[in-house]
Amino acid sequence: MMVRENTLSADDLIFPVFVLPDRGRGAGERESIISMPGIERLGIDALLSELDDIVASGIPAIALFPVVPAEAKSLDASAAWDDEGLMQQTIRAVKQRFPELGVISDVALDPYTSHGQDGLTSDSGEILNDLTCEALVRQARSHAEAGADIVAPSDMMDGRIGLIREALEHDGHHNVQIMAYSAKYASSFYGPFRDAVGSAANLGKGGKHSYQMDPANRREALEEIALDINEGADMIMVKPGMPYLDIVRDAAENFNVPLFAYQVSGEYAMLKAAAAQGWLDEKACVLEALLGFKRAGCSGILSYFARDVAKWLKASG
Ligand code: PBG
Repeated sequence: MMVRENTLSADDLIFPVFVLPDRGRGAGERESIISMPGIERLGIDALLSELDDIVASGIPAIALFPVVPAEAKSLDASAAWDDEGLMQQTIRAVKQRFPELGVISDVALDPYTSHGQDGLTSDSGEILNDLTCEALVRQARSHAEAGADIVAPSDMMDGRIGLIREALEHDGHHNVQIMAYSAKYASSFYGPFRDAVGSAANLGKGGKHSYQMDPANRREALEEIALDINEGADMIMVKPGMPYLDIVRDAAENFNVPLFAYQVSGEYAMLKAAAAQGWLDEKACVLEALLGFKRAGCSGILSYFARDVAKWLKASG
């Protein structure tokens, strides 16, 4: 309708996916995630077969998150920049089969550290910012080398965007873009994601409050975003989504780069749980929530509902 100020289309959606190492079960390599009904951890072959549908539905990009087995985790997170690692193999396989599909790779150490923190730590458990940045640069370079279109640092260390940009330029990856998780809050809505990637148990009671943002802060988000843009971020993100739409609106009004929000695992779980009880109309509520992100000023949304929404939108023509 001409008078609708905002619209939602498959083009606005990025689908986050969890990838598992291959244990030879081919497309049968799948695990369900209890707190995220409808979302599975997928082996590479299983992912490729799912992607046929996802690409056909008009979703322009996926965001990859690795599920790293305990034996590959370490204190130095070195599996993160292994050129034959899970992410690197997945990126290559996806880009080979679906060259047009945008691949966004998560840059953070939490899937790879034995303690589940996004950074490397001192013996006493303190996050070491600069040492972590060096590791993140190695990780981002190896993702770019494998063919990632966009690297997405979700770790919240200081100064990492500039260092990653510099390294990508040095390697000749001028077209690899950086999506900075600029305003990432220390949120309790990440619970189901931590179950999905298996970092919850390792993380124990130690949270991520020393590097993720305090939910009470608003101005700080604008400062973080400005820093990331100055350091060379091509696009920015606010995370979580629905409880932080005021931050999305602030970011949209203050900056001129593409802006994304992440409707995180806890938001997905809430809607799914209420729908399963028959308390909410899933389709109507999901479409309304996602349209809300557009109205708040997002260029696009990362959502675990992306695949379903793209299908619904297609069916309603
Ligand atoms: C960590 C990371 C997290 C998410 C994406 N990347 C969780 C965390 O910070 O512990 C959460 C996404 C979600 O909840 O869906 N690098």
